[in-house]
Amino acid sequence: MTLVPAYARMPVRFVRGRGSRLWDDEGIEYLDLQTGLAVNSVGHCHPAVVEAITEQAAELIHVGNVFHTNPGEELARRLVASSLGGALHYANSGTEANEAAIKMARKAKPGGEIVSVHNAFHGRTYGSLSATPQESKQAPFAPLVPGFVAVEPTVDALTAAIGDQTAAVILEPVQGEGGVWPLGSDVLRAARAACDRHGAALIFDEVQVGLGRTGTLWAHQHDGVVPDLMTIAKALGGGLPIGAVVTNERFAAGFEPGDHGSTFAGGPVQCAAGLAVLDIVSDETVLAQVRENGVEAAARLSEHPAVTGVRGRGHMLGVELDPRLDARAAVRLALAEERLLLNAPRPTTIRLLPALTIEPTELDDALARLMRVLDRL
Ligand SMILES: Cc1ncc(COP(=O)(O)O)c(C=O)c1O
Repeated sequence: MTLVPAYARMPVRFVRGRGSRLWDDEGIEYLDLQTGLAVNSVGHCHPAVVEAITEQAAELIHVGNVFHTNPGEELARRLVASSLGGALHYANSGTEANEAAIKMARKAKPGGEIVSVHNAFHGRTYGSLSATPQESKQAPFAPLVPGFVAVEPTVDALTAAIGDQTAAVILEPVQGEGGVWPLGSDVLRAARAACDRHGAALIFDEVQVGLGRTGTLWAHQHDGVVPDLMTIAKALGGGLPIGAVVTNERFAAGFEPGDHGSTFAGGPVQCAAGLAVLDIVSDETVLAQVRENGVEAAARLSEHPAVTGVRGRGHMLGVELDPRLDARAAVRLALAEERLLLNAPRPTTIRLLPALTIEPTELDDALARLMRVLDRL
């Protein structure tokens, strides 16, 4: 054994990817509705991303964060302008983006509590893990960071939990790893109002739902609730590791030199890839297609007798199966028999995360394959 068995790996070795297709080392072709868990949002090896990476790699791969780079500043400028209007701090991943946001909020209100909600997922490092109230993920690694509280994701529970002692509330507008559960506009609005009353920061974790995944560039645009801080990662680098926390004006000077940092964060190659990704996922034609695909796929899947409901929007759908069926068995069957990549975040939930750029015929074919899998459960 050469790799620590931290992942339940499937018996497939991929060697090549293009768009929504992957090929294994025997030349077998697969359709990808998993996209590396919401990373390959513009498909595998999109020509614009490959070109941006190779051109930038030939010019400058790394320079310390005490210097400026053009890709780093241009990507920050565009992300900030498209969202909260303040400033941006780079990280290397989703969990690190959340660490940065939590630290920023704590710095603004020293000693303050961080409120998260049950069934949330914010990452695996200690701060983010402490905001991820899931017994199986937290218990083996206790003790966690003090000063974190978890409540039900309801208007009443959040309103009661947020007070003068609160530094931040962190929420996913649609819970992803928890099984695709939209929190709903009422809950987000109540959190916003309580944060305003008590001078706490509202953090939206858009690591999975951001960058067009739900059919708008930012998921919170559906709900009309604007956070103080937003964390992003996953799709941003087109497959390269990059994350960021975007701030509003209030938090734009949230860190001073020496407060927080990272050797690799916001490197020029990742940021060049990010610029290419952002061009694609902010295209309104792409976003409109994502919204339409989501509505049509949900309607089609809901008709299957094995399905009890479909949650989510755009290209982030949670297909809830009859509780007697096993979603993880469906994922294995889909891979082995239908050459289709899926994911099951919960024992009875299949999650669909197609590339935003998937061809209509490919999506149609993928859904037909999924229906055949459901027929056989
Ligand atoms: C909402 C959310 N936040 C944070 C993370 C952690 O991101 P990463 O794995 O890049 O650290 C994830 C990963 O699944 C996520 O879905």
